[in-house]
Amino acid sequence: MTSGRTAIAAIGGCLAVVLVVGGLLIVTGAYNVGADAPHTAIVRALIGYARERSIEVRASDVAVPRLDDPKMIADGASDYDAMCTGCHLAPGMAENEMRPGLNPKPPLLAQGRAGHAAEQFWVIKHGIKLTAMPAWGVTHSDAEIWNMVAFLQKLPALSPAQYHALVAQSGDHHAHDHGDAPMDMDHMH
Ligand code: HEC
Repeated sequence: MTSGRTAIAAIGGCLAVVLVVGGLLIVTGAYNVGADAPHTAIVRALIGYARERSIEVRASDVAVPRLDDPKMIADGASDYDAMCTGCHLAPGMAENEMRPGLNPKPPLLAQGRAGHAAEQFWVIKHGIKLTAMPAWGVTHSDAEIWNMVAFLQKLPALSPAQYHALVAQSGDHHAHDHGDAPMDMDHMH
């Protein structure tokens, strides 16, 4: 039992040191919150792990509906084009003047494999704290968010021409109401 107590005391001591050092970094203003100052490797790893676990645990309760309805995909494409491309770009879209300054940088959702549908739904609905990713569920229904997830499942396979055809196909309100919105940087009209 003595060795158990020694171990607990050692862990407690380490935690106290971490708290004091962390507290000093904050109180003295030494911690740089500037977006252009990269995180240290340990902070980046910790945030990345916390984010991954938080999303995984919450998305495990999300029931994924059918996502292969062409109308859902087209409506999602139109909403994506109006609301998301300023940060996430789209096939054929050039880099803009905002993304390079964002930290963390928004992933290019058209590249690589399509993400996990339940996790995408959770992230789009709730956003991610201390990043630029907004909680779209504050202003959008679950059905509208599922449309965007259905579209995101197709996005990595789309050419620029296929992307624009999908966006044009939908009669969704966003394509018209926000045609000149600042996020709509690559609109075809
Ligand atoms: C103002 C910038 C901004 C806008 C607009 C934005 N996002 Fe994001 N989004 C981000 C950032 C930044 C991240 C990464 C956060 C992180 O690294 O934790 C992100 C992450 C995501 C992810 C998780 C990706 C992954 O691989 O884990 C999805 C899915 C996503 N966004 C979808 C959308 C959709 C759909 C829209 C439009 C409705 C949208 N985003 C609009 C900034 C934005």
